[in-house]
Amino acid sequence: MKILVKFLIAAAAFLAAACSSPYTDAPIRSLEVWPDQDGVHINAHGGGILYYDDTFYWFGEHKGERSNNALVGVTCYSSKDLVNWTNEGVALSVVDDPASDITRGCTLERPKVIYNPKTKKFVMWFHLELRGQGYNAARAGVAISDNVTGPYTFLRSGRVNPGIYPENMTQAEIDEMNALDPADYPRSWTPEWVDAVKKGLLFKHDFETGQMSRDMTLYVDDDGKAYHIYSAEDNLTLNIAELTDDYTAHSGRYARVIPAGHNEAPAIFKKDGTYWMITSGCTGWDPNAARMFSATNIFGPWTQHPNPCTGEDADLTYHGQSTFILPVPGKKDAFLFMADNWRPRTPIDGRYIWLPILFREDGTPYLEFLPEWNIKDQWK
Ligand code: DGJ
Repeated sequence: MKILVKFLIAAAAFLAAACSSPYTDAPIRSLEVWPDQDGVHINAHGGGILYYDDTFYWFGEHKGERSNNALVGVTCYSSKDLVNWTNEGVALSVVDDPASDITRGCTLERPKVIYNPKTKKFVMWFHLELRGQGYNAARAGVAISDNVTGPYTFLRSGRVNPGIYPENMTQAEIDEMNALDPADYPRSWTPEWVDAVKKGLLFKHDFETGQMSRDMTLYVDDDGKAYHIYSAEDNLTLNIAELTDDYTAHSGRYARVIPAGHNEAPAIFKKDGTYWMITSGCTGWDPNAARMFSATNIFGPWTQHPNPCTGEDADLTYHGQSTFILPVPGKKDAFLFMADNWRPRTPIDGRYIWLPILFREDGTPYLEFLPEWNIKDQWK
């Protein structure tokens, strides 16, 4: 009798857990049109997802029919199951004041939002380029809100950590860098130039004004510390910079990682104490082969692994470029790889590639292109 009762309790608990899971077998079909609740293709490119209050909030770049410039701002969509999405409108709007950093027509890319439980604020960071200046400004922008869907208030934009050396450079390395003379490297991409970039030639150029910040992501670690990871030094080197406790500024602690590696599109997750970062090379809107790195300390050293993509079009990241990796709540060791399939001539039609991160027996992550899969069956 006792055994039967125990069995019934366990079965009831199992059923309750199964029924309370928000995930269904609704298919995720990469590269197809993804309609929102109104049947309109989701317009949230270069985005990331915040899980808050049992709901997923997807923030991304609003793209125009013909323009990659920010004519609207950062959009937000919500979902309970990662498949059915409701358009929550514009979270951060560009403005009409031509004097504003985020004036309509600026370039506002790769927005990511994190929640700060201490201040109860939602904090958005993004890559900002000033209107009419191409990609020269290379700034990080930050905005905050009391409500997850916004409206977000723009705080400021700028280069990062001016006048501060990274934690992972020794005094001898700093001295060697400071001895570099740009006049000795008149041509880019020679082996000597690449070596000098590795040692900090471009870093030194931006030392006083702050480091460039283009493609970016955010990561909140288990201890609540948040990091801003961005392409600095004209996309040659990544910086991993700790944010202040309220997440709205840089604390001054940071590392220069994979110097002269020429990485964009950083996306990061942590499993069993190891950080894994997937990036892309730098070929504009055209896809290239993804790169993967691991580290046991977020400031490095980072070790490079082979391209995580396998199968057909692995060398083109299946025609996509990484943007974010979402740990899927309620599922064990479940990480969702998100990438953009850019369509620069009709940017609004850009598609999404979402794939489960798979793991080899030795624990190394890899990707396979699954044209159709679902969250309920993919992960236990
Ligand atoms: C590649 C970047 O990853 C994108 O976010 C965007 O900046 C394009 N380059 C622009 O060419």
